[in-house]
Amino acid sequence: MDSFKKILHDHLLPLLPPDARSLDLQSLVEVPEDLSLGDLALPCFRLSKLLRRSPMAIAEDLAARLVLPPAFRRVEAVKGYLNVHLDRRTYARSLVQTILELGDRYGASEFGHGAKVIVEFSSPNIAKPFGINHLRSTNLGACLARLLAFTGHHPIRLNHLGDWGTQFGKLISAFRRWGLETELERLPIPHLLSLYVRFHQEAAADASLEDEGRAWFARLEQGNPEATALWQRFRELSLAEFSKIYARLHVSFDEISGESAYGQDMLEVEQALTQAGLLSESQEAHVVDLTDHGLPPALIRKKDGATLYLTRDLAAAISRQRRYEFRRMLYIVGAEQKLHFSQLFTVLRLLGHDWASACEHVDFGLIRFKEGTMSTREGKVIFLEDVLDRAAELARSIIEERNPELPDKETVAREVGLGAILFFDLHAKRIKDLVFDWTEILSFEGETGPYLQYTHARLTSVLRKAGTLPEQLPDLLELTDDAEFSVLRRLAEFPEQVQRAVEKLEPSIIAKYAIVLAQDFNTLYNLKRFLDAPEPSRTALLALCAAIGQTLRNALSLLGIAAIERM
Ligand code: ARG
Repeated sequence: MDSFKKILHDHLLPLLPPDARSLDLQSLVEVPEDLSLGDLALPCFRLSKLLRRSPMAIAEDLAARLVLPPAFRRVEAVKGYLNVHLDRRTYARSLVQTILELGDRYGASEFGHGAKVIVEFSSPNIAKPFGINHLRSTNLGACLARLLAFTGHHPIRLNHLGDWGTQFGKLISAFRRWGLETELERLPIPHLLSLYVRFHQEAAADASLEDEGRAWFARLEQGNPEATALWQRFRELSLAEFSKIYARLHVSFDEISGESAYGQDMLEVEQALTQAGLLSESQEAHVVDLTDHGLPPALIRKKDGATLYLTRDLAAAISRQRRYEFRRMLYIVGAEQKLHFSQLFTVLRLLGHDWASACEHVDFGLIRFKEGTMSTREGKVIFLEDVLDRAAELARSIIEERNPELPDKETVAREVGLGAILFFDLHAKRIKDLVFDWTEILSFEGETGPYLQYTHARLTSVLRKAGTLPEQLPDLLELTDDAEFSVLRRLAEFPEQVQRAVEKLEPSIIAKYAIVLAQDFNTLYNLKRFLDAPEPSRTALLALCAAIGQTLRNALSLLGIAAIERM
């Protein structure tokens, strides 16, 4: 559509008086929903102010004087709009050809000019189960990184493990008291979790335990060998578990580091804060007073000398700017940490780091499980692996029912299960809270991952049956009735939707687009006979089908959902 908007702009500009020529007509042009209103519409209301004539008169004047370029079929003036009807054959041919030629680059752009953007996502806490909120961060972050790459940015995927803090002092103390080597080997994370739970239970009765935990964290921060060795093991065992999850999710990182990496940098942060006169003492703790900024004080060091989450985030941000010189940095973290990030960015600004304004908290809502739909191994905690297993299992039983002859059911089931979860995670505006319901997300109908995958498989099967398409599309691309034309317009929207999704950092825009495109295809498929249509309609329809398939695959690949060929 953009190229047609440009053609319109170029043809209209010479018709305007010189003082109106600075106007960017292209950005004013709209694409009407209603096909009867044409394919492009220029509202003449802005021009009306400039030219001191009524919009109606301007539209009529332009309609009368415009020399139709070959791509346009007709123009008309309707209620202050100049409506343009495209020549549908030209449009269809050029669009379908473009999509098929660009292939998996259709929708991509160089808009980012290679700008480095750090996308920090996933960031689970070691020695704890990888939770559903970390899954959300992982899926959103991986998708945003793909969107950024697709639009010409240079994303740097960073995983900031929660691997430092007082809780590890407690864990060390708990392990020394009750830990079992064999259990740690067998089920590292559940064992560590149970130790942590036990520590809190026993500490409720015996306050000295808390002090013991704090003392162990202090030793850890000072490099005590026993504490360090235990911590190292917990970290490695946790990472091994997380790696399995990342492999299942097909997610990878450019850097996996964690809060523990910034010991030296934290000292420098404190020095800088002191030099800038920002650090004050409050109840023996070191804080930055943020009253002037409407925020509670930022705690930098506790009275027992321990550093904090915020201290580590300050150090990490500064170190990343030094190491990567990023243009932007996105933190894909739940909305419940809003205050933390406000404090972080404010303190960075107070330290004089201009790039603080290039840091953004990309927040998201919570996921709740619908009552009774998920059994948990350990009290209230939901293990992500169980969720993935269960999804694959359910997908498997659906496939067994619908298509028992399918080859390689195992792989398909895994990808459908994963696709269901991914789509669920990405389908709504990220700030919304979601309720996870197994039946709903795995349904082959409605707005779901399996619906997209099923549509893709259906479409590929049509193309498979059709055999190879001619290299050269026929000149007479007969895709001109309204049903076909609206699908074409939908295809043409894809690059703009990609752009919008990146600007708003909203994967849901792509998810919604994929659904409407799939619906469009299914409507068309129910309406038209593809395979036994007479030529040249048959080739035209099949070429359209191939273009839809390509665009759907591009959208699915941005979402991280496997485009399945048979299911
Ligand atoms: N590990 C943290 C948590 O699970 C998330 C870390 C987010 N990133 C950051 N730079 N603070 O809550």
